[in-house]
Amino acid sequence: MANTLPPYVAPEIMDVLYTQDQIAERVRAIGKQISEEYKGQSIVLIGVLKGAAIFLADLARAITLDNTFDFVAVSSYGRARVSSGAVKLIKDIDNPIEGKHVIIVEDILDTGLTLNYLRDLMLAHKPASLKIATCLDKAERRLVPIHADYVCFEIPDRFVIGYGMDYAERYRGVQDIRIMPEDPPGH
Ligand code: PRP
Repeated sequence: MANTLPPYVAPEIMDVLYTQDQIAERVRAIGKQISEEYKGQSIVLIGVLKGAAIFLADLARAITLDNTFDFVAVSSYGRARVSSGAVKLIKDIDNPIEGKHVIIVEDILDTGLTLNYLRDLMLAHKPASLKIATCLDKAERRLVPIHADYVCFEIPDRFVIGYGMDYAERYRGVQDIRIMPEDPPGH
């Protein structure tokens, strides 16, 4: 099969939207807020693979409550920059959430189609409560009415990578959040 990957663009030449320090400060604040709001209770964090993995890892360590993790996977944008609109479950939760306090953890809330689908899916399991935490919120792109309860940053409609977010599966390990150029050099 031909290699159709676009050429690699060094993240160092991309503009930084949020630094590691700025992200860490917001994650700490949200972790503290969640710890206060759910004081004395146990919570289940459900990460949406793969983008949310890094945010979930940091958020879980900022929460000072009894908590467990689970993960779901849904159909991805693949290499395209825009959503196909169709959402399909690829991996369901492993453990029952009935009667539990659940927070779905996302890296980015864009059109809202993914979370709209996941919210309905999780509500069908009858959790005691269901909230949404997202690192980034592109509110202006929303196609369905859904809002996150915990948001690190609301951002404009730019394609971002890093802190779990990819372009063609690359850059998830970049520590800060950077803006992918429209026409990467070498294209
Ligand atoms: C991203 C992100 C959300 C979804 C948000 O996932 O992690 O799940 O898109 O977009 P929406 O609000 O328009 O539905 P992506 O498909 O890029 O997969 P990934 O998490 O594996 O990177």
